[in-house]
Amino acid sequence: MSTLSLIPTHSHPHYTASMSPAELQAMRAHAQQNPEGFWLEQARRIHWHRKPTQGFRGSFEGDVSIKWYDDGHLNASVCCIDRHLTARGDQVALISHREGRPGAEQITYAMLHERVCRLANALTDLGVEKGERVAISLPMISEAVVAMLACARIGAVHVVLFGGFSAEGIAERLMDSGAVLVITASEARRGNKTIPFKQTMDDALLKCGQNCTVKSVLVVRTSDAAVPMLPGRDYDYHDFVDGFEPDFVPVVMPAEAPLFMLYTSGSTGKPKAVVHATGGYMVWAAYTMGMVYAQKPGDVLWCTADVAWITGHTSVVYGPLANGGTTMISDSLPNAPHAGRWLDLIDDYKVTMLFTSPTAVRAMMADGDAVVQAHSLETLRLLGVAGEPISSDVWMWYHDVIGRGKCPVADTWWQTETAGVVLGPVPGAQPLKPGSASTPLPGLDLALADPQGRIQENSAEGSLCIARSWPGQARTIWRDHERFCKTYFSMVPGFYFTGDGARRDDDGYYWITGRMDDVINVAGHRLGTAEVEDVLATDHRLLESAAVGVPHPVKGQALVVFAIARKNVTAQPTEAGIKRMVADALGRYAMPETVYLVPDLPRTRSGKIVRRLLRKIASGEIENFGDLSTLTDQEIVQTICNFVQEKH
Ligand code: WTA
Repeated sequence: MSTLSLIPTHSHPHYTASMSPAELQAMRAHAQQNPEGFWLEQARRIHWHRKPTQGFRGSFEGDVSIKWYDDGHLNASVCCIDRHLTARGDQVALISHREGRPGAEQITYAMLHERVCRLANALTDLGVEKGERVAISLPMISEAVVAMLACARIGAVHVVLFGGFSAEGIAERLMDSGAVLVITASEARRGNKTIPFKQTMDDALLKCGQNCTVKSVLVVRTSDAAVPMLPGRDYDYHDFVDGFEPDFVPVVMPAEAPLFMLYTSGSTGKPKAVVHATGGYMVWAAYTMGMVYAQKPGDVLWCTADVAWITGHTSVVYGPLANGGTTMISDSLPNAPHAGRWLDLIDDYKVTMLFTSPTAVRAMMADGDAVVQAHSLETLRLLGVAGEPISSDVWMWYHDVIGRGKCPVADTWWQTETAGVVLGPVPGAQPLKPGSASTPLPGLDLALADPQGRIQENSAEGSLCIARSWPGQARTIWRDHERFCKTYFSMVPGFYFTGDGARRDDDGYYWITGRMDDVINVAGHRLGTAEVEDVLATDHRLLESAAVGVPHPVKGQALVVFAIARKNVTAQPTEAGIKRMVADALGRYAMPETVYLVPDLPRTRSGKIVRRLLRKIASGEIENFGDLSTLTDQEIVQTICNFVQEKH
């Protein structure tokens, strides 16, 4: 990349950096020379009941074992709340904005403490024990944050489930996790749509049937609409919880006790739950958020991610609260009731740090500059993105138009499995390159491997790997450690394999080139194409299908499905029916953009579908297919092209 597009360190005088370039350099060097000492020092960012004396113990070889701060004891809710009570009990911890209601709730650390303690008492009263799983399926309302922290307080493991999942998807996750209690809402409004949280949960619980482990359901009433309640199982959240004591002695946990698990998609099979451990995760959340989003008193951080994603865990809840900052949530849409809605909220609540997805930035860009110009946005001092690639032109628009050229833009690369930022700048302490996720944070040792698994030095391109463990690394896949070892540690032995490709330039900056497996990223939502194909395989009218991701101007990628209908079935499947089937089985977020019913698919002689060709055709590239000699039937390529062209 040419240095022309380099944004130097000193070009944002409005932003006060948390450290100087020299201090950052020194920190990198120290972390490199003495990783054990470095990570023990970072552990001091959080409160421990018993301080750890060890950093990492374990190995990426064989039966992979990852342990951090193993002799330490702590409680994550204490790190996020109690430790701040004396110094800033009256400071706002959480701003909770609800669309259609005036103002926003300003919840101080002292108020958060009370609410978390009441719920911790209620959960205990309902028989939830430490180590047991509690599923949380809520819109972006304050109870979501309280619920996570209350689980942490009693040592229960939370499993936050996305409101966009189907009943089927929720049922699978409830059974897999063995959740004993569910916290959900009656419904949520998104623009002019109503999302029936409780109804979907009831359907999911019914689907679990004999395998249902859930004993109680707490329901936050989010509107006046009547919602059916099952006596003995369902409780009105506030009627039940608000009567409990506002104090609860935290259950002190060993560092390696699981804090939460989170389902995410991989290239094969069903979504898997990655497990994060309390001590390492908390240090990591405080460290990564402290490095990239160094909040000062008065800073309001608004990370727009849904709490059901890893960004919602680390950048909405655990990171900002561990660091004693103010975090904001809102259940609003970026463009309803009008374009620029999120910009109103930035002005209304004096947001100083905005952290969103490239999809949201592209959507704001599509609304036009005039919408942005109509807002002050003068409180903003830092902008961030994560979750998907951001091109240099969108990065520049974010920087120039939203940030008015005075805020650094931090593009951060991370994953559910890394739990926090791996690649990202320390704003103000290093130059920025639009379109690059910058450099590894101090203490992280990244590597690029060639197709033979050989590690490349200097500027190079390859599969992105991490050479040494970091405190926030996922410890295992729930009930499937073998899959954990195979997915992440067998591709390049001795290294954690991220699944992404990347290029490293002469300055050591990384440029993510995209997933190397069959995982696609639709508007920041990770989706395995195999999940979609598995759904379609259950329809007897379909012989076979292939799902691929294609570039999309706003969502980054869109899902396209090619399906072969069986001959001689009475009711032929329709393209609209296939879309609905996928959305019903996985959730609305997985609804294919386009479906093509085709007579066959391109295959190699060994029968493997050539997805590379399908991706090309679906993206509208219908020429220069390269060598087709390995296909069993070359004509099918032209036939499929004709189908695609006919539709456009
Ligand atoms: C992609 C989201 C390019 C990547 C935090 C990764 C990115 C997957 C970036 C993880 C970025 C995340 N630039 N691609 N800055 N950040 N990704 O688990 O493919 O939902 O593997 O975590 O998103 O998605 P996940």
